[in-house]
Amino acid sequence: MAGGFEPGDLSMRKSIWFSVTAIFVAFFWMRLTGPIHFFEVADDFAIPKAVKIPEGLDSVSAKECALCHEDIARQWETSIHSNAWKDPYFRVDWIYDGAEQICLNCHTPLVNQQRDLVLGFRDADRLDPILEPNPDFDPELKKEGVTCAVCHIEDGVIIGPTGAKTEAHPVRKDSRFTDGNGVCKRCHMVKGDRREVFMKLPPCGNFAEIEEIGRKADCVKCHMPKVKQLSSSGKDYIRKSHTWRGGHDREMVKNGLTIELKEEKKGAGPSRRYALLITNTGSEHRIPTGTPDRHLEINFRLVDSANRLIKEQTEFLERVILWRPFIIDLWDTRIRFNETRRIAFDFSMERNPTPAYVIAEVKYGLLHESRRKKIGYQNAEPIKYTVFSRKIALD
Ligand code: HEC
Ligand code: HEC
Ligand code: HEC
Ligand code: HEC
Ligand code: HEC
Repeated sequence: MAGGFEPGDLSMRKSIWFSVTAIFVAFFWMRLTGPIHFFEVADDFAIPKAVKIPEGLDSVSAKECALCHEDIARQWETSIHSNAWKDPYFRVDWIYDGAEQICLNCHTPLVNQQRDLVLGFRDADRLDPILEPNPDFDPELKKEGVTCAVCHIEDGVIIGPTGAKTEAHPVRKDSRFTDGNGVCKRCHMVKGDRREVFMKLPPCGNFAEIEEIGRKADCVKCHMPKVKQLSSSGKDYIRKSHTWRGGHDREMVKNGLTIELKEEKKGAGPSRRYALLITNTGSEHRIPTGTPDRHLEINFRLVDSANRLIKEQTEFLERVILWRPFIIDLWDTRIRFNETRRIAFDFSMERNPTPAYVIAEVKYGLLHESRRKKIGYQNAEPIKYTVFSRKIALD
C-alpha cells in the first residue's frame, strides 16, 4: 500500500494532532491561569519545624522567653518577624494565591503554629502536601509568626551565639549564630531552580546579590545592629538588636541611600537640566531588594510661582518580571552596592507660565497600587513613603 491512503491513517493523524493541540492548549492554559511557583522548595523549609519544650521552661512561646529576656522580646515584637502571620499584606496575598500550605513554612514555621500536619507529598516538587488536622495546633502561637523558638530551639535545647551557661534552660553554642547569616538562610535564600523559571537572580535574591559583588553575606552586621542595653545588674552592655528593619522602615531605607540633586549646565539658551544621583552606599545587596514588589519611584515636577504643574516625569527603579506563561526577568534597574544611578530632567525656561521651581522626590514603594487593587489589599499603612524631597528655586 505504498503511497496509498487509508481512511484509518487520516483519523489516526487527526487524533494525534488533536492530542498534541489539546496538550499544548492545556499547558498554556495552566501557565496562564494556574498557580505560579517561582521558587524551588528546598529541604530547609519543605516541612514545618518541630520543636520540643526545653527542660526548665513551660512553653516555646515568646511570652515565656519574655519573662527573662524582656528587652529582646520587646525589640522582636516591633519587628516584621513577629508580624509575619498578622501582616495584612501577607494575609491578603496568601489567600489570593490560593492559601497554599508551603507559604506557612516561613511565615508560621513551627509545627504547632499550623492547623495541619504535613505527612508527606503527592508530587516530586513538594508543592502538594498530604495534610491531616494537627491535634496540638496552637492559634496563639501562630500569631507569633517567626518567633524566638524558630531560630533558637533545636532538639529541646536553646541554641545561641555563645552557649552561655544558665540554670534556666539547656544551652548549646551553634556556629550558625556567629557566621553572620546561618540563621537567615532558611527563609531568605530561595532558589528559582524550576523548569518554567528563567531568572538571572533568585526571586528574593538577598544572598545572590551580595555574592555577586564578591562579598560574604553578613546579614546580622546590618540587620541586627549593636545596641546598648541596661543589664539587671545596672551596667551597660552591648548586644545585637532583634529589630530586623528593612523596606518597612523609612530610616533604614534612607540610611542605605545617598541622594544628590544637581543642576547640569547645558550651555547658553533657555534649556535646563537637573539630575538626581542616587547611590547605594549602605546595602551590600541591591536597593530595593527582596520581593520584586519593592521599587523606588523617582518623580520630577516643574511648577510656576503658584505651584501649578507645568511638566512632570516619573520613573521606577525596580525588577520587572514576566510571570506568565513563563517566569522571565524583563529588566532590573535596582541599584547595586556602590553603584550610582543618574536620572535627568530636561525642560525649557521659555514656557508660559514661567517655570519657578523644580521639585525632585524619591519614594520607596512596598508594592504598586495596581497590585494592591488586584489582590484587594485594604492597606491601613501607606504603601509608599518619601525618602528624599527637594524644591529648588529657578532664577
Ligand atoms: C530570625 C531569627 C531570630 C529570632 C526570631 C530570634 N533571635 Fe535571638 N538571636 C538571633 C541571632 C542571629 C543572634 C546572634 C546575634 C549575634 O550576637 O551575632 C541571636 C541572639 C540572641 C541571644 C544572645 C545574645 C544576647 O543578646 O544576649 C538571646 C538571649 C536571644 N537571641 C534571645 C531571643 C529571644 C528571647 C527571641 C524572641 C523574643 C529571639 N531571640 C528571637 C536570631 C533570632
Ligand atoms: C527563667 C528565665 C529564662 C527564660 C524563661 C528563658 N531564658 Fe534564655 N537565658 C536565661 C539566662 C539567665 C541566660 C544566660 C545568659 C543571659 O543572661 O542572657 C539565657 C540565655 C539564653 C540564650 C543565649 C544562648 C547563647 O548561646 O548565648 C538564648 C538564645 C536564650 N536564652 C533564648 C531563650 C528563649 C528562646 C527562651 C524562650 C523559649 C528563653 N531563653 C527563656 C534565662 C531565661
Ligand atoms: C523562619 C523564617 C525566617 C528566618 C529564619 C529569618 N527570616 Fe527574616 N523574614 C521572614 C519573613 C516571613 C519575613 C516577612 C514577613 C512579612 O512581612 O510578612 C521576613 C522579613 C525580614 C526583613 C524585612 C523587613 C521589612 O521591613 O520588610 C528583614 C530585614 C529580615 N527578615 C532579616 C532577617 C535576618 C537578618 C535573618 C537572620 C538573622 C532572618 N531575617 C531570618 C522569615 C524569616
Ligand atoms: C551593608 C548592609 C547590609 C547587609 C550586609 C545586608 N543588608 Fe539587607 N538591607 C540593608 C538596607 C540598608 C536595607 C534597606 C533598603 C532596602 O530595602 O533595599 C535592607 C533591606 C533588606 C530587606 C528588606 C526588603 C524588603 O522587601 O523590605 C531584606 C529582606 C534584607 N535586607 C535581607 C538581608 C539579608 C537576608 C542579608 C544577608 C544575606 C542582608 N539583608 C544583608 C542593608 C544590608
Ligand atoms: C522560603 C520562605 C518563604 C516562603 C516559602 C514564602 N515566603 Fe513570603 N516572605 C519570605 C521572606 C523572607 C519575606 C520578606 C523579605 C523579602 O522581601 O524578601 C517574605 C515576604 C512576603 C510578603 C511581603 C510582606 C510585606 O508586608 O511586605 C508577602 C506578601 C509574602 N511573603 C507572601 C508569601 C506567599 C503568598 C507565599 C506562598 C506562595 C510565601 N510568601 C512563601 C519568606 C517566604
